[in-house]
Amino acid sequence: MDVTTKLLMTQRKLYHIIAALTHKKVLFQDVVDITASLESVFMAAKFKNKFLTINRKKIEIVRFLGSGSLGGVWEIKNELGYPKALKVLYKLREVNTEKFLEKLAILKKISHPNILKMETTGIISRYNLQSLLDEEQIEQNSVEEVPYFTMPYAAINLADYIVTQKENLLERVKLSLHLCSAVRKIHQLKIYNEKMQVESLEHGNLKFSNLLLIAKNNTFSLKVGDLGIEPSLGVDRHHTSQTAMEKQDDFATTQKTLNELLSSLHEQLKSLPSICDQKALDIWTDKLREIEQHMRREKSARSFLHLGIKLYGNSAYQYALKDFDKALSLDNNLYEAHLYKGLTLQEMDKSEEAEKCYHQAISVNDLDPRAHENLGEIYSQRREFDKAIAFFEKAIHLDRDMPFCYASLGSIYKEKELYDKAITVFSKLIALEEDCVPAYIDRGDVYFAVCEYENAQKDYQKAFDLENDNEEIKAKLALANEKLKG
Ligand SMILES: Nc1ncnc2c1ncn2[C@@H]1O[C@H](COP(=O)(O)OP(=O)(O)O)[C@@H](O)[C@H]1O
Ligand SMILES: [Mg+2]
Repeated sequence: MDVTTKLLMTQRKLYHIIAALTHKKVLFQDVVDITASLESVFMAAKFKNKFLTINRKKIEIVRFLGSGSLGGVWEIKNELGYPKALKVLYKLREVNTEKFLEKLAILKKISHPNILKMETTGIISRYNLQSLLDEEQIEQNSVEEVPYFTMPYAAINLADYIVTQKENLLERVKLSLHLCSAVRKIHQLKIYNEKMQVESLEHGNLKFSNLLLIAKNNTFSLKVGDLGIEPSLGVDRHHTSQTAMEKQDDFATTQKTLNELLSSLHEQLKSLPSICDQKALDIWTDKLREIEQHMRREKSARSFLHLGIKLYGNSAYQYALKDFDKALSLDNNLYEAHLYKGLTLQEMDKSEEAEKCYHQAISVNDLDPRAHENLGEIYSQRREFDKAIAFFEKAIHLDRDMPFCYASLGSIYKEKELYDKAITVFSKLIALEEDCVPAYIDRGDVYFAVCEYENAQKDYQKAFDLENDNEEIKAKLALANEKLKG
């Protein structure tokens, strides 16, 4: 059994295993990709020679990257020492090499930021192939010379990206836009076919391993590889080995890729038409651009917010305020920018403006207790107790773990002589913070006011145990003891 057949058998087995494991329909493509990586392992083990001469230039071969239906790809270093990829089409059979090279020369002229550039092209002799392939593989080929081309080296392809990179939605949107842009360009291109007729180009095999990611400045850009090399070049099936794939519809493949990359945006994208032609692709592109722009604004709004919070922490309120305003001008729905703007204004004694900010924060998100708590505090200071109670209670309802709210609320109830409620609230505070001296004093005061001197004495005693150099507590304790005796 030859290598390819063995791999095909493995592929079938894998298909069944994965399908059984996931209970899902596994895409044929996924399995082909797994198979390709198995083949890489197999070949890497056999690959020993380090140098190759092409076009009279000595090239260093770094490692074997993988193989597909037409040949293999190796990482090399060019004569200047830069990493490049070399694709050798050693699986092509009975192909007119001269004509093929003419085609490569045309493809070489295609230049687009999201289409992988074909850099140098040429032929490798059968003799030179020994540096790359083993005897068995060379024997399977009858041809004396095989075409090759070099291209930029890509750090990973999209299949690796989806598995290894953590979810970064903005980057995924950007990569999706790159793919849309490449597909759009490809379908606008016209080239001469073998009969010298003008023909529209299509890719025909936009699978993940042909979507290569070039790393630059900590981000990736996507480039479509193998344009014109895949079925659309007119390489008939009998010219290639048996793993050759049928031509796939570029729009449908693009749709699948975007679905995979952007699964978390499903809700936002589901009203768009399915990608079946250039027009639908343009609609997707516009929508993705809009999403990308929005996300960029959100991201920079968050940068201003964080800067503002730092300045607020350093009491540089004037500057902090400017950053919060900037953040809000970029994204008016940023809860924390409203909240911190309010805090800053409070520090600057502008409580009316702060009040407005907190109300805006609540209109953005009424499930976060912090703006409610701060409003409660503002109204409490203004002695608008009913309003204050409503906001503190809402804050506690949203998050029970708010000691400050209990303390303020208890004081208001105490002030309003709603003693039962005050006792309940101070008791909750004590349950949250067992060592909170003011809470014991406050509750003691309430007990004292309702003539429950025994309870009052216990609370003052507890406060005294925690803080025995406090004259105020000492006096209160003495008074309670006196009442108990008297
Ligand atoms: N320019 C490149 N840089 C890095 N890896 C590449 C490059 N071109 C192709 N590859 C990788 O080499 C492997 C084989 O590619 P190829 O021969 O085109 O087969 P296929 O695309 O069918 O997997 C793939 O994993 C592909 O991602
Ligand atoms: Mg490929």
